[in-house]
Amino acid sequence: MQGSNVGQGVRGEVDEVLGEAARLLPGGEMPAAVFNDRGIFERERERIFGRSWVYLAHESEIPDRGDYVLRYIVDDPLIIVRDEDGEVRGLHNQCQHRGMQVCRSEAGNASNFRCPYHGWTYRNTGALTGVPVEKQAFGETLDKASLGLVQVPQVDTYNGMIFGCLDPDQVGLAEWLGDIRWYLDILTMRCPSGVEVVGAPQRWRIDVDWKIAGENFVGDSYHTLMTHRSMVELGQAPRDPKYAMYGEQVHIPGRGHGAMLIGAPPGTDLPPFWGYPQDAIDRARTSLPSAEQFDVAYETRIMLSTVFPNLSIHNPIRRPDHRYEGSIPMMTWRVWNPIGPGQVEVFSWFVVDKDMSEEFKRLSSLSYLRSFGISGTFEQDDAEIWTHIARNAGTFSGRNHRVNYQMGMELEVDEQWPGPGVAQPANFTDANLRSFYDRWIEVMR
Ligand code: FES
Ligand SMILES: [Fe+2]
Repeated sequence: MQGSNVGQGVRGEVDEVLGEAARLLPGGEMPAAVFNDRGIFERERERIFGRSWVYLAHESEIPDRGDYVLRYIVDDPLIIVRDEDGEVRGLHNQCQHRGMQVCRSEAGNASNFRCPYHGWTYRNTGALTGVPVEKQAFGETLDKASLGLVQVPQVDTYNGMIFGCLDPDQVGLAEWLGDIRWYLDILTMRCPSGVEVVGAPQRWRIDVDWKIAGENFVGDSYHTLMTHRSMVELGQAPRDPKYAMYGEQVHIPGRGHGAMLIGAPPGTDLPPFWGYPQDAIDRARTSLPSAEQFDVAYETRIMLSTVFPNLSIHNPIRRPDHRYEGSIPMMTWRVWNPIGPGQVEVFSWFVVDKDMSEEFKRLSSLSYLRSFGISGTFEQDDAEIWTHIARNAGTFSGRNHRVNYQMGMELEVDEQWPGPGVAQPANFTDANLRSFYDRWIEVMR
């Protein structure tokens, strides 16, 4: 990262850094000090993660009553459970007695959660139902009705995607997502049964600021030229090293959400609709909500999206020559959960259209494992780079540098684009990143 001096304003307080960010962003720059900084992280914990709708789980992970998974918003431990009535709830995993975690298994099925410290027992609705030797220990004084597990104030779903929000006053999920739903539909409604998560999420930690990962998936096609060049040379990516430049980049103004819909390089024979088999294409024609969404999907070879703040989705193509068994289309969803300044825990799920054959799902999961996920080639390319950006941004001098987001500032808007949002007819543009940071600054200030 090469930057010019940013002046004296950046070093110092969070508000100063945010003021500098707001001043610089219209010109396509940001102070590096927004990354890997303790003050910024503490503000993000409160303003971003304490108030945003954050992706937590998919309904297919908890299909039956009593099914639960443990998830996190920053360091808040949450139980995402389908209760006895079939309702999806978020419960703080913190006993109302002395604060112990009442559930310590990452996934399972339980009608009750019994705290391992003194044995207080809660129904999977969160209600406190059992206190050992209650009469002798507490007499008649314990108000059990008010001592249920604390509920996540807002939990809602969209197309099976479960989101939670720690702020009871935040707008509803549908409004929060806004027009990115049109693009999420393309990724989740290609077959009548929707999508399903297969297996537990892969989890690993990276020394990177969560925003660096999120910005990569919201609009950084440009890095594929260099970062993933070896994948092109190995034949694991389309032959044109500029393959990620084509197609359309779209952002939802004011929301921070964005998507890249990467098309076919001219003169190449990459198959339409990500290379999914013909029966999947036929299903999608009637399953997607609109003809426009089908047409857009048909022209897409690779699709990525980040839903503000920290859910990213990647759905890349298969190779046209079938040379690699694992090179059929796959989809991964991931949450970049910040666990400290310049540190994330990644939750990465393999997601597949539910109506695909078992054989397709098997091959698609191999495609995921080989490219993304903890052992994936592309994933390791990215993480290796990101850690060094975060490291530089946290240094004494490096935090005074500027980060450049000026690509595509002159690129015209595609007025013919059939979907919602602001579209540009190429992916080598930073429009989505500028929009992502515009939203970030707005929420942080
Ligand atoms: S801390 Fe849970 S029962 Fe005491
Ligand atoms: Fe990458």
